[in-house]
Amino acid sequence: MKKDLLKLLDLTREDITKILDVADQMKYNQKHGLPHDCLKGKTLAMIFEKNSTRTRVSFEVGVYQMGGHALFLSGKESQIGRGEPIADTARVLSRYCDGIMIRTYAQAEVEELAKYATIPVINGLTDFAHPCQVLADLMTVREKMTRLEGLKLCFIGDGNNMANSLIVGGLKCGMDVSVACPEGYDPDPRVLDFAKSVTDAKFTLCRDPEEAIADADVVITDVWASMGQEEAQKRRMAFEGVYQVNDTLMKLAHPGAMVQHCLPAHRGEEITAEVFEAHADEIFEEAENRLHAQKAVLSLLMGEN
Ligand code: CP
Ligand code: NVA
Repeated sequence: MKKDLLKLLDLTREDITKILDVADQMKYNQKHGLPHDCLKGKTLAMIFEKNSTRTRVSFEVGVYQMGGHALFLSGKESQIGRGEPIADTARVLSRYCDGIMIRTYAQAEVEELAKYATIPVINGLTDFAHPCQVLADLMTVREKMTRLEGLKLCFIGDGNNMANSLIVGGLKCGMDVSVACPEGYDPDPRVLDFAKSVTDAKFTLCRDPEEAIADADVVITDVWASMGQEEAQKRRMAFEGVYQVNDTLMKLAHPGAMVQHCLPAHRGEEITAEVFEAHADEIFEEAENRLHAQKAVLSLLMGEN
């Protein structure tokens, strides 16, 4: 594995499988009270330039469970908010801490941080990618369906950070991936280029959710407007009435299909309350698995192996 987890494009299929295997073990150890304190004496700096509930709590709790210490740095309250260069922040934190988790806007900022840091950097969400979330999603699907290869994953909605990471993660694991999004809201061109280069799994991008969801084993959606995206009203007009996971659409998926949502969810927008509640167990298992998947990443990048 590389020093950092910046985006799933940087990982091999073997890397992802390794993380998921360690994540399963972490979950087992936690549930059975078995020790896994491989971060004893280690510190993770967590920089947040956007809001968070799951990412902040699961990283902080995960590091604690592994015997380490996590510290929260708000983008606004630290010197980052006053314009200190990210390259300087990277070099300073590298002298105090053993790893950095960052949630911010531009992927370039995370890449820059990793370039100057001598310690591992983990992407806790950018406008481009949400790798930790998708590792948890893949873990949840594998847990319930017992495999990933050969399953069909369908994403309906905005071609955002979640869509980008699901396309890359799904295809790398041998899943067929179909995406339905409105014109003008396609996934990132770097991701579409990657999808084109894949030969052992199928990728389709279309405008019609009914076409995309046909026979899907896993149905995933996300908010119409992500953090930092201003034009909520314009987006509503592009998505409303079509890009919603509801009972009618779910009838076209494979019987027994799973539903995943990274949360927070906007009921009545990208997903109905009925579909959400019918799949709440899967969705909250996915939220729980953030903890286990991230502990796997932390142990592989920062732990005493
Ligand atoms: N899914 C997710 O990343 O949640 P938070 O924004 O609460 O961290
Ligand atoms: N796409 C959403 C995910 C939130 C976890 C956002 O970036 O706001």
